[in-house]
Amino acid sequence: PELFFPERPNSMGFDLSDLPTLDAIDTARANFKSVKTTAHPLVDGSCRPEPPQPVDNPFSDEDIPGTIATASAEDVETALNAAKPWSAPPSDRAAILNRSADLYEQNFGALFALLAREAGKTPQDAVAELREAVDFLRYYAARISDASPVGTFTCISPWNFPLAIFTGQIAAALAAGNAVLAKPADQTPLIAFEAVKLLHEAGVPVSALQMLPGDGATIGAALTSDPRVDGVAFTGSTATAQRIRRTMAQNLAPGAPLIAETGGLNAMIVDSTALPEQAVTSILESAFQSAGQRCSALRCLYVQEDIAESLLEMLKGAMKELRLGNPWALSTDSGPVIDLTAQTKIESHIRVAEAEGRLLFQTKAPKNGNFIAPTLIKVGSIADLKEEIFGPVLHVATFASDELDDVIDAINATGYGLTFGLQTRIDDRVQHVCERVHAGNIYVNRNQIGAIVGSQPFGGEGLSGTGPKAGGPLYLTRFCKPAPAEKSS
Ligand code: SER
Repeated sequence: PELFFPERPNSMGFDLSDLPTLDAIDTARANFKSVKTTAHPLVDGSCRPEPPQPVDNPFSDEDIPGTIATASAEDVETALNAAKPWSAPPSDRAAILNRSADLYEQNFGALFALLAREAGKTPQDAVAELREAVDFLRYYAARISDASPVGTFTCISPWNFPLAIFTGQIAAALAAGNAVLAKPADQTPLIAFEAVKLLHEAGVPVSALQMLPGDGATIGAALTSDPRVDGVAFTGSTATAQRIRRTMAQNLAPGAPLIAETGGLNAMIVDSTALPEQAVTSILESAFQSAGQRCSALRCLYVQEDIAESLLEMLKGAMKELRLGNPWALSTDSGPVIDLTAQTKIESHIRVAEAEGRLLFQTKAPKNGNFIAPTLIKVGSIADLKEEIFGPVLHVATFASDELDDVIDAINATGYGLTFGLQTRIDDRVQHVCERVHAGNIYVNRNQIGAIVGSQPFGGEGLSGTGPKAGGPLYLTRFCKPAPAEKSS
């Protein structure tokens, strides 16, 4: 589509191979190493939240990054009554979203510190997360049109991208002129609080952007079942998206949009022509970066049997070199998983596989903090994965040269369709496989994480989401009322 406003280029991020840059990051974060953020609902009116509770650092019981006073039922009522679509002219909205992106970048020290302390993000992950957040702001700012907003949007975001996805949903809803009620994930309210303060500082009116921290069962349920809400953007599990859709169907107008990005059982196929070093790097990044806590992460690797033994030996060697530890440290490759609940669930999945004799390999994890050591588990097929295990656990299956189409069928039969990776040097095979696999984002001869706003819009099909893809040209259309021509057809 034609751009209404000039597009600003994607952020350059930070070059972490450059020592002065690393020093600059360290200096900028230093002042925030022990700051306690006191977060609370941000509503347009008086706020009477619940008593404050400490927020955990997934790496350390000794560090409390802040406290959160969650929204009360009264706060939800205040916010619903105060919510007003953002009526500023499109050009003003674009300018304010661009200013927000600049403010995010200027405050990188505070944001990186919270990303490490509240979400366990390594510097590498924090850099990528900030980039994605500002890219969303600028990308949607450039695509603002004179279409009418839907009205009031509830935006419910996950803890695994507490800045980028939180910001992306809000930026799109605001770009279209909606009022936003944002509910951040329970585990990561502090970073959301800082982000909303920056958006307000940039000029987004409080009536157009209010934040209601709290749990899904109370605040999430209230914000998806009130008829004053006109649409919902949600990123999280497939089961929760299905529950939200049922709630919306019962309580909201029939046409209220649900834009959901959900789970995946993401596979990669490595055939015997693949470049082994490239395949190992791609597998390592896709399965274990961010402790495997990306919806895009690789969950099931299919290796052609002829090369399975040698490839897995290389992979194990590389896995042993991953440095797990304090996400604050610049040398850390991978931090902890988000909380004890996640750790316990992933551990029990690994223990079941071990008891069944399917544990292929596991590295060592630090004792303190919610760590899971990167793990390989043998499976017969992707059909053995009954659910998405959201951590650094890679399931491995092998296939014979005449079984490629069966593998594709098995991948499609999961019903999910988020990311897919292929490693091969046969051009015809790229076309053959990519035409058949159902997945929103397909990556060939590279890792399958880290979609880039604008150039790789991100989103799945089937059980993985509703579309349109985030960071793509169609995303904003779902936050706008249908154009008159569309209405009459
Ligand atoms: N956008 C993220 C990625 O591509 C989703 O987890 O990795």
